[in-house]
Order: sequence, then structure tokens, then C-alpha cells
Amino acid sequence: MHFELSEEHRMIREAAREFAQELKPGVIERDELAKFPFDFVKKMGELGFMGMMVPEEYGGAGMDALAYVLVLEEIAKIDASTAVIMSAHNSLVCYGLNAFGTEEQKQKYLKPLASGEKLGAFALSEPEAGSDATSQHTTAIDMGDYYLLNGTKNWITNGGNSDIYLIIAQTDVEKGHRGINVLIVEKGMDGFTIGPKENKLGIRSSDTHSLMFSDTKVPKANRIGEEGFGFKFAMKTLDGGRIGIAAQALGIAAGAYDLALAYSKERKTFGKPISEHQAIQFKLADMEVEIEAARLLTYKAAWKKDQGLPYGKEAAMAKLHASEVAMKHTVEAVQIHGGYGYVKEYHVERLMRDAKITQIYEGTSEIQRLVIAREILR
Ligand code: CAA
Ligand code: FAD
Repeated sequence: MHFELSEEHRMIREAAREFAQELKPGVIERDELAKFPFDFVKKMGELGFMGMMVPEEYGGAGMDALAYVLVLEEIAKIDASTAVIMSAHNSLVCYGLNAFGTEEQKQKYLKPLASGEKLGAFALSEPEAGSDATSQHTTAIDMGDYYLLNGTKNWITNGGNSDIYLIIAQTDVEKGHRGINVLIVEKGMDGFTIGPKENKLGIRSSDTHSLMFSDTKVPKANRIGEEGFGFKFAMKTLDGGRIGIAAQALGIAAGAYDLALAYSKERKTFGKPISEHQAIQFKLADMEVEIEAARLLTYKAAWKKDQGLPYGKEAAMAKLHASEVAMKHTVEAVQIHGGYGYVKEYHVERLMRDAKITQIYEGTSEIQRLVIAREILR
């Protein structure tokens, strides 16, 4: 068993660390104004971060899930919004196309996505189908050589700025989840409109939108996998996605911890740095332990994926623990900063707001527990 990163993994983490420093100066403004980080998304494409696990022949960086997690963690320490833009694009869109797409789909759609030329979004959720993801109301009626798409998707990350969308929809109601398909939809297709940007608590510079379809014709060639594969596609893709969100949560927690640790050594009360008060030391000790545990769970889930072993339960465990740790310890990081933690320039209030979503998207904490429980009781 090795707990050391390889030279290659250390190098990629270093590259991500350097890039993350560039994110820092504008991060408060982007959060406040909900400004999408276009230039940084372009730069992530140039660095190979937008197709990290896609083979080089399809425009990707050909790296493994562990490298992906290391990069996400570093980016999320500084800017969790940029991290989720990258995560949804990589784990949900590029992964899905690479694993299950046809050669034609990979040439046409995966290549420009993996190189960062185009941005992707993944749309499973609907106003009445969040946790209960099989109850899809969006329909994709089989019309022979195309599907007729109607309905509404909501909460879609990268929803406004994407070029390519993976849309989950019900074709055959009688077949239940086995009658669901996943279709590749391009921005600009007739009948496809994008709703206003959501005004969110956190991850504010990522864009979240509803997507509306009214008699949108999607060619049959844009279906991924066999007829009825759409729900399994979503579940398999989300298994990997949850490792990405675990890494995002881990980064948020670790970023807040770094700030709290540094601040505790500088801030003096009662004649000594607050790090010398035992109450603060105990908070720091708990942070160190629980963040490291989240890191080990996240790296292990990525490692299992890289080994070709089953990793759904490990991904859910990593996502559940890392997101709970992120929420708990960003609150503590604000506490360690006292009043200064409550204002924007110290960053921890933003990290606290950003942490909350990691307990909700890609399956809430309750859903992760359900997935884990089903696995252990099987
Ligand atoms: N891999 C492969 N197949 C799977 C699977 C997996 N991990 N999990 C379930 N399935 C299959 C089952 O085997 C079953 O198929 P069969 O009947 O053919 O065997 C089918 O899927 C239905 O499974 P269940 O009976 O378990 O379905 P359920 O209705 O009980 O729901 C659930 C299961 C785990 C709760 C699922 O609905 C779920 O994951 N809900 C949460 C949805 C979610 O995570 N949404 C995230 C949206 S994306 C997002 O949020 C992105 C972002 O923020 C950036
Ligand atoms: P509900 O399913 O209505 O759940 C409400 C509450 O009930 C939760 O606490 C939940 O845990 C609990 N609950 C539900 N069922 C059970 C149960 N069986 N047992 C115990 N508790 C239960 N979706 C996408 O498809 N693509 C995206 O890119 C995407 N990005 C998102 C970005 C943001 C900012 C947000 C807010 C959401 C995003 N989502 C996306 C949607 C997200 O995945 C859903 O919000 C999430 O899955 C929860 O669904 P819901 O909001 O409908 O809550």
C-alpha cells in the first residue's frame, strides 16, 4: 500500500496549485457579481484540465481519476465555482461520452469538449425529479429517425454557457427507468430555450439554469448507448461525478482550514496568538483529522476507479463524508476568524456558502446514505 503520490501526480498537483493562484485576485468580485470565469475556463482547456480523463486521441489529457481529484482539490481551495464548472464538464459530460459514446459521437462532440474548445452540461434533474431521478417528465418520443423532445430540466450547471448538453428523457413510460434515454443536444437546436440564471447562495460564479424543450428534434444518432440506456448512463456517470464533488468539497474544507490555521497564528487575544488557546487548537486538530479522512476516502474512490474496480459505494462514501466535513469546518473556519470571518475579504464566509451545495447536488447526503446502505445490505 502506497500513501505517496507519484512524481507525475505531484507535478500535476503543482500545476493546478499555480493555476489556482491566478484565480485568487478576482474570486470575491466574481462571487459577488455572479460573473462566469470565461478566461479561466479557457485557460483550463489549455492546461488539459477540461478533458483530464479523456484519451489524447480524443483531445484529452489522458490522465487518471487520481490526477483529476488532485487538480479539483487545488482549484476548489481557492474557487469552488470554477471547480464545479470543471467537474460537471469532465465527470458528467466527457466521461459519459468517452465511456459510452460511439466513435462518431466522440469525433463530433467529445473532441471539442475535451480540448476545452466547447463546454458541456449534464441534465438529469427536473422540477419534480431530483432525488427521485427515475420520475422523469421530460419526454423524448421516438419519431423514427429522430426523437421529439419536450419538457423542462432545472438546476443545470453550465446551463447558460454550454455548447453541448446531455439530456435525460423518458421515451417509453411503460418501461419505467428502462424506457429512459440520454440524448446529445446542441445549443441553438429549434425549440431549445434557456431560462434565467439562478441567483444562488454559493458557487455563484458558476451558472445554473433551467432548460426548456418544445418539440426539439434530436437525431437518433445523438442517442448515447442502446435504447433505454439513459437511466443507467446517468447512474454510472454519477458514480464518477460523486468523486469529483468529493474532491471539490475536500478542496473547500482544506482551503478554509489553511486560512484558519494561518489566521490563528497571527491574531492575538489576551496577550498571545489565538492558536495558543486550547479551544482553538482543538478545532484545528479536528479539522486536520477529518479533512485527512475525507482526503483518504476521496483518493481511494479515485484509485478504485483507476484500477477498474467497482467504486460506486466508495464514491458515495467520499462524497458524503467530504461534503459533511466541508460544511462543518467552513463554519469553524469562520468562527476562528471571529468578526473578520463574517466579511468577504477573508474568504472563509464564501467557502462556507460554497460548502452547502456539496451536500445537495449529485445526490444529497441522504441519497448517498441510501446508496451506501443498499450496497452494504445487498
Ligand atoms: N450503476 C448502474 N446502474 C445503477 C446504479 C449504478 N450506480 N444505480 C442504480 N442503477 C440501476 C439499477 O440497477 C436499476 O436497474 P435495473 O432495474 O435494471 O436493475 C435502475 O438503475 C434503477 O435503480 P433503483 O431501483 O435503485 O432506483 P431508485 O428509484 O430507487 O433510485 C437513486 C436510485 C440512487 C436514489 C437514484 O435515483 C439517484 O441517484 N438519485 C439522485 C439523483 C442525483 O444524484 N442527481 C444528480 C444530478 S446531476 C448534478 O447534480 C450535477 C451537478 O450538480 C454538478
Ligand atoms: P428533493 O429530491 O426534493 O429532496 C428534498 C429533501 O428530501 C432533501 O433533503 C433530500 O435529501 C430529501 N429526500 C428525498 N428523497 C429522500 C429519501 N428517499 N430518503 C431520505 N431523504 C430524502 N442536476 C442536474 O441534473 N445537473 C446539474 O448540472 C445540476 N447542477 C445543480 C447545481 C445547483 C447549484 C443545484 C442547487 C442543483 C443542481 N442539480 C443538478 C440538481 C441536484 O442534483 C438536485 O437538487 C438534487 O439531486 C436534489 O434534488 P431536489 O432539489 O429535487 O430535492
